[in-house]
Amino acid sequence: MAEADQHSNSSSEPLLPNMIEQEEKISQECRDIISSLPREEGWFHESIYLFQGFWEPAWLIQGALEFQKHFKPRDDDILLVTTPKSGTTWLKAILYATLNRSNFPPNSHNHPLLTNSPHMLLPYMEATHQGDRIDGMASPRLLFTHLPYSALPESVKHSSCKIVFLCRNPKDNFISLWHFANKIRPKTLGTLSLEEAFDKFCRGVSPVGPFWDHVLGYWLESLKRLEKVKFLKFEDVKDRPVATLKILAHFIGHSFSQEEEANGVIDNILSLCSFENLSNLKVNKEGELPDTNIATGAFFRRGQVGDSVNYLSSESIKKLDSIAGKKFGPYGLKF
Ligand code: A3P
Repeated sequence: MAEADQHSNSSSEPLLPNMIEQEEKISQECRDIISSLPREEGWFHESIYLFQGFWEPAWLIQGALEFQKHFKPRDDDILLVTTPKSGTTWLKAILYATLNRSNFPPNSHNHPLLTNSPHMLLPYMEATHQGDRIDGMASPRLLFTHLPYSALPESVKHSSCKIVFLCRNPKDNFISLWHFANKIRPKTLGTLSLEEAFDKFCRGVSPVGPFWDHVLGYWLESLKRLEKVKFLKFEDVKDRPVATLKILAHFIGHSFSQEEEANGVIDNILSLCSFENLSNLKVNKEGELPDTNIATGAFFRRGQVGDSVNYLSSESIKKLDSIAGKKFGPYGLKF
């Protein structure tokens, strides 16, 4: 069980920095790298670049380079990795509540999740150079990244730390991403139409996309190294929350005891982290994530499986199903 309150942020450095300020702080080394990379207009940024096979804005490329060069994993670290808009907020909350349940019983009135956005409780590894703050965190550390498997620091791949990966069926993931983009895009970029977003997504031009390669990287690694990578789908967490949480807790080495099960700890974690509960908290309804221009409410929309049918034509559904079939089918991955 976590020994210390992981949410205490002893450094003044924000967990999620202001994206625009970060763009202004790009190092010369990073500018030199991106100057020769393919560029496209981003979903939330003016420019994204194809870096190590994945689309990222400049400030996250710089952060990824630092993460790759300097990060020293501990064997008991837990690294949550997600495809953007696959339910990151939910899984951050679930993992945080599970890992910290002895310090913060999930039904306690002062639980950190009641007053902090889940996004403030886990360091976002490529978002900023977190240096001393990460080193100073008590073990086991709960860390977060969106980076593809191929771009993870070599040190992470070779350590015994655990990777929990979450993704979601491509159609719902796409629709969630499109809504989110239009909530947080700078006004100067205008509205992103569904058609334009669909074209980008199908071509692989999406945050840390191609979506297909991002998911496949972790899927293949999870088949090779069951003890290292736990591959989860949003739909499975929705469908079988209790069973999934038990499997997850066991995977990260913090299984629930029989006594905890009998005392309703699993149900309490799931209630605390439910869409209904989190999305109705003041912290997740009002204001912005500190030092960003992202409203905390932007991470909550419907939280349902299958909502994409309300937005996609049958032709678009066919197209996404066909790409998914071609990319994932040969490897036995189905959504
Ligand atoms: P929808 O846009 O389909 O509603 P991320 O957290 O990766 O940014 O993903 C956001 C998606 O997860 C949104 O999906 C959001 O509504 C959903 N979500 C957020 N919190 C959730 C929760 N506690 N339970 C289920 N879904 C949740």
